[in-house]
Amino acid sequence: MNPVTPTRDLLGRPLRDLRVSVTDRCNFRCRYCMPKETFGPGFRFLPRAEILAFEEITRVVEAASSLGVTKVRLTGGEPLLRRDLPALVGMLAALPGVSDLAMTTNGALLARWAEELAQAGLQRVTVSLDSVDPEVFRLMNGVGLPIEPVLEGIEAAVQAGLGPIKLNAVIRRGLNEGGILELANYARDHGHVLRLIEYMDVGESHGWKMEEVVPSAEVLALIGTSWPLERAEPHHSADVAQRYRYRDGAGEVGVISSVTAPFCGDCSRLRLTADGRLHTCLFARQGHDLRPRLRAGVDRQELIEELRGLWAARADRYSELRASQTQRPAALGKPEMSYLGG
Ligand code: GTP
Ligand code: 5AD
Ligand code: SF4
Ligand code: SF4
Repeated sequence: MNPVTPTRDLLGRPLRDLRVSVTDRCNFRCRYCMPKETFGPGFRFLPRAEILAFEEITRVVEAASSLGVTKVRLTGGEPLLRRDLPALVGMLAALPGVSDLAMTTNGALLARWAEELAQAGLQRVTVSLDSVDPEVFRLMNGVGLPIEPVLEGIEAAVQAGLGPIKLNAVIRRGLNEGGILELANYARDHGHVLRLIEYMDVGESHGWKMEEVVPSAEVLALIGTSWPLERAEPHHSADVAQRYRYRDGAGEVGVISSVTAPFCGDCSRLRLTADGRLHTCLFARQGHDLRPRLRAGVDRQELIEELRGLWAARADRYSELRASQTQRPAALGKPEMSYLGG
């Protein structure tokens, strides 16, 4: 297939990545994402009728791929809670324009699914792992789940050929910052790529404070004291992580500095929520509701034009704007990370 000339937004940014949230539910309650106080027994998750069917998701991904999307990432909530996920993977893997098909998961159910997902055409997985200390892990996932199933899930993913595995750790001052080196050692020993993420103010439920953000510079200095690092080139200009190589040859580590060094200038990501809304920024208050048109039988060309128009009108750069202010903008009713898919 000929490469597609990507559609560009108002700031000249191409459309390359689509993140597809397949459910807003999760079996964890990480404080920085789905705090129990908000996401308790009374919380109303999306009703089944409002969730896109696999055919509907596939139509959107196909339309996006004809506008330049080559990279697709399945997210949630926790994507492995969606029934029959390998079937969706198979449908997306069959699209000729999709050359990179990945998934971000908390890993708790990964041992059960890794092989089937790989067989269906999944290429890579990223596992969220905030600590390798069993007690800190239990505390951070909010439901007291043990770490062992996650470590087994990571191992199963490697065995299934889904590696090298990326591990995402959101670092929060006073909670898991003491375990950064231990995480780095675990990743180095197992050949995984650890990425340390600055805690972001997505959504409204977690009471984000700037004081709880551990700047990437500090994280790098800490790791560098034990394991000297050197800067590595980005694979692609739109990558969110800055890559570093261990000077002793034991692989690489990355930092995602969305608070202290925003990367909106290269942001090529579009997000599709489980109920069919397109968000052009993690911090966009409202999404563009595609579902009514999808269900009314919009044809392929109309769908493509709708996506093209949405991307062409995009000017989002929230993190850059936040960085230029000293205070976080007041609560604006921003949607939650578990709904947007991270
Ligand atoms: P690859 O580089 O393809 O492996 O994936 P990725 O790094 O784009 O995906 P991943 O889900 O691992 O993203 C890592 C984290 O970076 C997310 O959980 C977010 O915390 C953050 N992130 C990803 N995309 C954006 C974005 O567009 N804006 C901001 N501010 N943060 C983002
Ligand atoms: N800040 C930064 N990253 C977050 N994630 C969830 N909430 C936040 C937040 N407030 C990340 C998780 C996971 C991905 C889906 O989103 O660590 O890797
Ligand atoms: Fe679930 Fe991931 Fe959010 Fe934790 S960060 S609550 S695992 S979606
Ligand atoms: Fe992209 Fe919005 Fe994140 Fe900036 S804040 S990198 S525009 S998603």
